[in-house]
Amino acid sequence: MRITGSLFSLNFTFAVLYTLLVGCEVTNGQDSLKGLKDYYKDYFPIGVAVSPASLTGAQSELILKQFSSLTPENVMKPAPIHPEESRYSWENADRIAEYAKANGLKMRGHTLVWHQQSPAWFFRDAAGNAASKEMALARLKEHITQVVGRYKGTVYSWDVVNEAVVDEGENIYRETDWYKTCGSEYIAKAFQWAHEADPDAQLIYNDYNTEFRGKREKIYTMLKELKDAGVPVHGIGLQAHWNINHPTEQELRDALDRYSSLGLKIQITELDISVYPSDHKNPDDDAFTPEREQKQIDQYKMIFKVLREYRDVITGVTFWNVSDQRSWLDNFPVRGRKNYPLLFDQDLQPKKVYWEIVTW
Ligand code: GLA
Repeated sequence: MRITGSLFSLNFTFAVLYTLLVGCEVTNGQDSLKGLKDYYKDYFPIGVAVSPASLTGAQSELILKQFSSLTPENVMKPAPIHPEESRYSWENADRIAEYAKANGLKMRGHTLVWHQQSPAWFFRDAAGNAASKEMALARLKEHITQVVGRYKGTVYSWDVVNEAVVDEGENIYRETDWYKTCGSEYIAKAFQWAHEADPDAQLIYNDYNTEFRGKREKIYTMLKELKDAGVPVHGIGLQAHWNINHPTEQELRDALDRYSSLGLKIQITELDISVYPSDHKNPDDDAFTPEREQKQIDQYKMIFKVLREYRDVITGVTFWNVSDQRSWLDNFPVRGRKNYPLLFDQDLQPKKVYWEIVTW
């Protein structure tokens, strides 16, 4: 009896302590035991761009608590994964895929066709002359078939073509090596080959500045032509490298309405919100002020409010990098200017803005 009694009081003490501890973690309905993925589970998966190095230690803990989807930041791009025509380098992409599978996370593939981080060999023949259209397309088919085929069943959504539309002027297509070698045909072909390699994958066209009217209409025109021609394009990725002033709520709503009117799904693929205005390159005015912090909070709140409203068409929201510890914006557009574009601070702790977007 004595033993049972002391066990009872031990259990009781434990229960009281547990309630106190857990109770302390719940402030204003904000439950720190939950992660972004839990708050948004009835809306869309919440993803994050990662490198293999971020899948260990404290970053891994953060990822597993907060996110339900991964995108490789770099290692699936054409140059890292296919450095020579006869050689693929799978190791890093495999590590991310294995981590996603082992931990029950979804995985996005990024990216099959892009004008940056793409090897020069695609566009040269054995003698070093410009490759013919036939040669370049045959290589592209091989690349897409191998890469999509390898991750079939793991990658549920592919950024098939990245940034093929030009920002300025009247022309639709960016003058890339792909365009110069093959005309715009490479775009439709890339989607067809990706679909053949994995008929279940959601195939996305991915770009930035997708909310500016001029570029939006060019992208819309291209996607409409692809859809009308029966090309298997299923969605558009809004990269969402935004800032404290852009987009406005109206611009965001107009873009979501316009693209979804084509029957396309929408993914937010590379979300971050710079604390500096986009054209801002003046070192005298690089301060991260309380006003800018508040603008970032307001911008994030507005964006998530709108995204929740559009949950029927939005099939994923992915942040570009894990925390303010490291962001590509630390070196763009101003090299070495520290930015604070994400929801977690440099110590991997949720920022004020985090709590603002998990309560509504
Ligand atoms: C583009 C690409 C991404 C990444 C960013 C910069 O948005 O799609 O893969 O390279 O630029 O980090």
